[in-house]
Amino acid sequence: MRELRNKKVLITGAASGIGRATAIAMGKLGCRLFLTDINEDDLKKTVEVIAGAGGTVCLTRPFDVGNYQAMADFAKDVHAEFGSLDILINVAGIALFSQIEDMSHNDWEKVIKVNLWGVIHGLECFVPDMIRAGNGGHIVTISSTAGIIGLPWHTVYAGTKHALVGMSEVLRYDLKKHKIDVSVVCPGAVNTGLVKTVEIHADKEITDKTLAHFLKRAITPEKVAQQIISAIRNRKFIVITSFDIKLLFFFKKYCFPIYNLVMLTISRVTDKLFKKTV
Ligand SMILES: NC(=O)c1ccc[n+]([C@@H]2O[C@H](COP(=O)([O-])OP(=O)(O)OC[C@H]3O[C@@H](n4cnc5c(N)ncnc54)[C@H](O)[C@@H]3O)[C@@H](O)[C@H]2O)c1
Repeated sequence: MRELRNKKVLITGAASGIGRATAIAMGKLGCRLFLTDINEDDLKKTVEVIAGAGGTVCLTRPFDVGNYQAMADFAKDVHAEFGSLDILINVAGIALFSQIEDMSHNDWEKVIKVNLWGVIHGLECFVPDMIRAGNGGHIVTISSTAGIIGLPWHTVYAGTKHALVGMSEVLRYDLKKHKIDVSVVCPGAVNTGLVKTVEIHADKEITDKTLAHFLKRAITPEKVAQQIISAIRNRKFIVITSFDIKLLFFFKKYCFPIYNLVMLTISRVTDKLFKKTV
């Protein structure tokens, strides 16, 4: 099992939810942290909690992960003062659920910019230096259930999250020779800030009821943080946080007709719930 004390760890999306819980947990393990988020005030609060518990935050900066130059500038400063990272954890993300005909071009662009380009920027600005340093390391990317299952109403979100699983799988093999391990995390429902910020193109009253139901099934971000740490320690590639999703993924791989029936049913139920009919 891997020792994490003193490891240099960058976490995006560290102001809230899974990123915040992971930063706090890794701070307690003695990691040296580099934290970013677009939300400056909440990022400061995360840093205060970690510092209050005796943890080490080496550098923190608020910026949009979708902005390449901001990520490149941050990487330049991290590398100049502290050298290459040991662990990169891509967490920042947003969610938008809609039928395709109700989406604007801007909807597509904004989700892809954060969820896909944001992760690409992290990879391209930090991983080559990890390779050059020759110290090995670990990359964790937070995908979603929507990264392995074709959930209804998730077209753009699923597109970005499937891409993260694909990129992680390639990197898993490409980076083995450099002793850099890769994990991709596919959470089910988690009780985080995303529940308040998710954009759903359906009736507000109905979406509120659906989100309340989602919260009943949701696990805590702290639980996901522990699964992320365990994946790093045990060099586990794919982490699926909920049993029901593990089961559905099993059917997708080994018994497609059952998966197909379940997905057709979920699709019909979702349309009915959100009152979307032809
Ligand atoms: N909550 C869930 O049920 C769930 C399920 C599956 C996957 N996920 C994924 O987990 C990740 C973390 O989400 P969360 O649930 O903790 O939500 P969250 O909203 O609590 O945290 C996301 C963080 O990302 C930050 N962020 C958003 N846009 C950004 C940008 N452009 N630049 C920098 N930071 C930005 C937000 O400010 C926020 O602090 C996301 O990638 C999300 O897609 C969440």
